[in-house]
Amino acid sequence: MSSQLESLRKHSVVVADTGDIDAIARWRPQDATTNPSLLLAAAQDARYRPLVEEALERGRGAAEPTLEWLFVLFGREILKHMPGRVSTEVDARLSFDTGSSIAKARRLIELYEGAGVKRERILVKLASTWEGIRAAQALEREGIRCNMTLLFSFAQAAACADAGVTLISPFVGRIYDWHKAARKVDDIPLAEDPGVASVTRIYHYCKKFGYATQVMGASFRKTGQILALAGCDLLTIAPELLEKLAAAEGEVERRLSPQDAAAQSLERVALDERSYRWRHNEDPMAVDKLADGIRRFDADARKLEQYVMTLVAGRRAVA
Ligand code: E4P
Repeated sequence: MSSQLESLRKHSVVVADTGDIDAIARWRPQDATTNPSLLLAAAQDARYRPLVEEALERGRGAAEPTLEWLFVLFGREILKHMPGRVSTEVDARLSFDTGSSIAKARRLIELYEGAGVKRERILVKLASTWEGIRAAQALEREGIRCNMTLLFSFAQAAACADAGVTLISPFVGRIYDWHKAARKVDDIPLAEDPGVASVTRIYHYCKKFGYATQVMGASFRKTGQILALAGCDLLTIAPELLEKLAAAEGEVERRLSPQDAAAQSLERVALDERSYRWRHNEDPMAVDKLADGIRRFDADARKLEQYVMTLVAGRRAVA
């Protein structure tokens, strides 16, 4: 009998959600996703110090270029261990600024291409704010592929699909966390899991109406949530959960399929800025979690910046 991980791979593309390059080499996923929190952890790991040193060299003592290089060098290294795409996040501080998000995405692609990586292998990750979605729409037109993150509401998903983005990452775990806290419970059974229900609805919507946008379930807290979404285009999974799936035996049953999606009774929605903002605002969980997610990614990016600047100061002291 095969492991749950092997069986899952028959239904969904398995993606590694980590900045840990050794974990990617071990699990050999198709794609990988990073975010500032994951790269903060990886950059402080002694195994990856040479990459940090290279970023310090290339960034020449300035915070912003050093961070950009750090993201790109980790991404390039990750790509050596898998065939697909790596997602690299745009600075969360730009989440409400379309023009600066576009400029930052172009800059990341320029650095990647300068480092010998083709743009087809990169997904630029942007927060699914109205401004981020507009930036992604413009970037896709110039051949820069986007992965829309911090996606909690149906309105966010519908607007992203309409914008023609390559991929969306609807979150499961953070929705589950929010509802657990709101209900003051330790767990929510899978059959009622609001994160699983959210991704299921978004998947059905995208498939039923023939959007090209790929749906990648993200942010998992337990393997049951992953297995409940078997069949989703992609699933991005942290190494600890990959480990659990590899250790468990059993055939995984497909839960999501285009055929089931076609049979759903759903209506297509057309959202302009006003109706997008209204619908998103009607979902208190999504409003809280989008704002919190932007703050958290920004806080970790600032910690990473402080970390590299401490190293810069250390180098200057010995020079
Ligand atoms: C992936 O793209 C997301 O950044 C990630 O899955 C978030 O996971 P978390 O909710 O465990 O931080």
